[in-house]
This record gives sequence, structure tokens and C-alpha cells, in this order.
Amino acid sequence: MPLPYDLQPLRGPRVTLDALRPDDFADLYALQSDPDVCRYLLYEPRSREEVARVLERDAAATRLEKAGDYLQPAIRDEHGAFLGTMYLELHSGVPDRSAEIGWIIAPHAQGRGYGAEAASVLLDLAFGDLGLHRVYAELDPRNEASVRLCARLGMRHEGHFVEHMWLKGEWTDTGHYAVLEREWHGGRDDGSTARAG
Ligand SMILES: CC(C)(COP(=O)(O)OP(=O)(O)OC[C@H]1O[C@@H](n2cnc3c(N)ncnc32)[C@H](O)[C@@H]1OP(=O)(O)O)[C@@H](O)C(=O)NCCC(=O)NCCS
Repeated sequence: MPLPYDLQPLRGPRVTLDALRPDDFADLYALQSDPDVCRYLLYEPRSREEVARVLERDAAATRLEKAGDYLQPAIRDEHGAFLGTMYLELHSGVPDRSAEIGWIIAPHAQGRGYGAEAASVLLDLAFGDLGLHRVYAELDPRNEASVRLCARLGMRHEGHFVEHMWLKGEWTDTGHYAVLEREWHGGRDDGSTARAG
């Protein structure tokens, strides 16, 4: 497993994923303070002070070396405009080689395939240069866009935990989705390819 890995700009057909920067503050604040965006996230809408702290922390999260390390790159369009953020956290190194993936796309850019494209770029990294074996996502099953994004990526629905956590004043279920390296590269059991188009 070729670690440590230091984040380099990652390119897809329309998007680039690269490190968050101080000048992303206004876009990140708009995203993370939006109640609709945060509806199914683990956190409540954030204040300016919280976003400033998070930006400083996440802008520095550019190295994967050991379990718990994460990348939180910005997603930018062809013109460099901010579209959202992706997340990849190393869950375990050798021998398990697994990571968790997550995604947030700004409301103005949702439903245009950017989430699928950015996630594909990160999965290419995960199963390519990082040499991971398994990548999983956890989500609130009521989050239809996120459920459909997992399906689009060829991630298998592996579990549904009922009232798995007390979150935002209610018991909340968790859906667990995953894809393996051989599935991402070689196609799923049904013979179709796992890649998002
Ligand atoms: C989940 C999210 C990242 C999806 O990003 P996106 O760029 O809009 O997704 P895409 O355009 O790539 O579409 C992926 C799939 O989701 C579907 N989708 C997108 N928005 C949807 C919506 N509001 N309702 C239902 N399905 C939706 C698309 O139709 C597509 O499915 P298909 O391939 O079957 O057609 C985005 O909705 C988001 O950021 N939501 C708020 C934050 C959040 O909840 N993050 C996930 C936490 S687990």
C-alpha cells in the first residue's frame, strides 16, 4: 500500500479535486450553514466561526498515512468554481485496506452528475494509487440522492441499521454501501461495470 499519499490535484472530465484553500471560505460557509444541505449530515448547520475552524483543519488534511487520516478536497468545475467537497477517510491500512467515502455538492450544482463524477475520481484514486481493497459509504436511508449516487457508482447495499443512532433529536437509521477494488475495476457479479458514466 503506497503510503504516505499526499493529495495532488485529481482530474475528471469536468471536475478537479484539490485541497481546500482560505479563499474557499465564502463557498464553504454557504454550503455548511445551509439547513437543506445539512439535513442528512451528522452536523447541524455551522456558524461562520465553526466553518473558519473546519476550513483551517480540512485544508491541512492532505496526507493519508495511517488509519483515521482523511482527505477533504474541494470539487471545482472547468472554470475553477467551487462545487462542493469530497471526503475519503482511511479506515484501516494493511491488510484490510479500507476507507470511507462521503460527498457534498452545492445546491446550485446538484443533479448534474457532479457528485457521480467527483466520487468516481476519488474511487479511481482509492483503488488505483492508494491500492485499497474496499470503500464504503454510510448514509441516512431517507437521503434519496445519496442512495441513488451509491447505486450509480455500483456500490452494494450491505446493511441497514435500524435506529442506529440518536441524531438531531430522533432515532436515525443508517444504510451501509460498499464496493471492492475488483468490482470497481472488473465489473460486478452481474457482469456490468461498476463505474459511473
Ligand atoms: C447526495 C449528493 C452529493 C448528490 O450529488 P449530485 O451531484 O446531485 O448527484 P448526481 O447528479 O451525480 O446524481 C447521482 C444520482 O442521484 C440522483 N439525484 C440527484 N439529486 C437527487 C435528488 N434531489 N433526489 C433524488 N435523486 C437525486 C441522480 O438522479 C442520480 O441518480 P441516477 O444515476 O439514478 O439518475 C447531493 O444531493 C448533496 O450534496 N446532498 C446534500 C449533502 C448530503 O446529503 N450528502 C450526503 C451525505 S451521506
